[in-house]
This record gives sequence, C-alpha cells and structure tokens, in this order.
Amino acid sequence: MKKGELVVRKIRNGTVIDHIPAGQALNVLKIIGVKGDSIIAIVMNVESKKIGKKDIVKIENKELSMDELNRIALIAPTATINIIREYEVVEKKKVTIPDKIINIFKCPNPNCITNQPREPIKPVFKLISKRPLIFMCEYCGTYIYRKDILAQFVS
Ligand code: CTP
Ligand code: ZN
Repeated sequence: MKKGELVVRKIRNGTVIDHIPAGQALNVLKIIGVKGDSIIAIVMNVESKKIGKKDIVKIENKELSMDELNRIALIAPTATINIIREYEVVEKKKVTIPDKIINIFKCPNPNCITNQPREPIKPVFKLISKRPLIFMCEYCGTYIYRKDILAQFVS
C-alpha cells in the first residue's frame, strides 16, 4: 500500500474515483449528485505520482454507471474510475467528456426556454469542443465554457 492511502481503508464493494485534481473532490460529488444515504469517504491532498497532489472519493455499495461518471470529466479530466467487488478492482476506466449533457447545468442565457419557470424543459448541451471545453445549448445555441460550468458549482 502506498503512503498517502493509509488515510482511508479499502472498500469491499463500490466505486472509487481516483486521480481527482487536488481540491475538486467536493465538486465531483456535486456533479454526480450522490444522495445523502450513501457511505462516502473523501481523501484530499494526498501525493500522486501521476498528477502531483490528488483527491480520492470512495462510494461504498454503489456501482455508478459510466453515464453518470463521465460528467466528472468536466471538472476532473484526469479522474479514473475503479469498480470494486469483494475488495478487488474489477474495472478501471478513465472518464471521457460526454457528447451530451442533460440537466446538469443551466443555460447562461436568461431568455432561454430552459430558464423559464413555467416551462418544464431540461437544459440539454451538445459538445462542441474538448480543448477548449465548449458546450452549446440545444435550445438557444448559447455556448457555455469550462469556467461557466465551474462557476455554477461554487455558487
Ligand atoms: N481501492 C479501494 N478499495 C479496494 C481496492 C482499491 O479503496 N478494495 C482504491 C485504492 O485505494 C486506489 C484505487 O482504489 O485509490 C485504485 O486501486 P488500485 O488499482 O489497487 O491502485 P493503483 O494501482 O495505484 O491504481 P492506478 O494504477 O489507477 O493508479
Ligand atoms: Zn439555452
């Protein structure tokens, strides 16, 4: 076992999100919207050979789908997902930026139909570019950039 990882025990079953850039663990939890009943361990600012300092999030007894997990790429593109069963890593994957984002962040255009309180329309964004990260609102065509996405998470 490596030095920094003695902080939190291994889990028996669940999902470990590793190699999160230091300081982003709480935003990662926000973006995947894990419910209050989950058992969660958060490790912050441990040494990593790959990315300097990193955070780790461990969610016990839950195997999240890659659909849910790929949202993490918006704020933590270096993250790796480990699915754990009976203490073993049975699957290891990098997150990838999704082509479509449904109902995660708001459209920056206040006049967009997705921002009208009487309209039950969920915001849908289409990926335009990965570098730099740009999404476009499917309803009004407004672009949203990484900094806008991050800003919606610290409000
Ligand atoms: N882990 C865990 N519980 C387990 C098994 C693994 O919490 N039963 C965690 C480890 O602490 C680590 C991550 O899951 O943070 C990945 O485990 P492993 O593949 O064993 O570690 P590394 O080889 O260091 O992974 P990588 O090559 O992705 O850096
Ligand atoms: Zn819009």
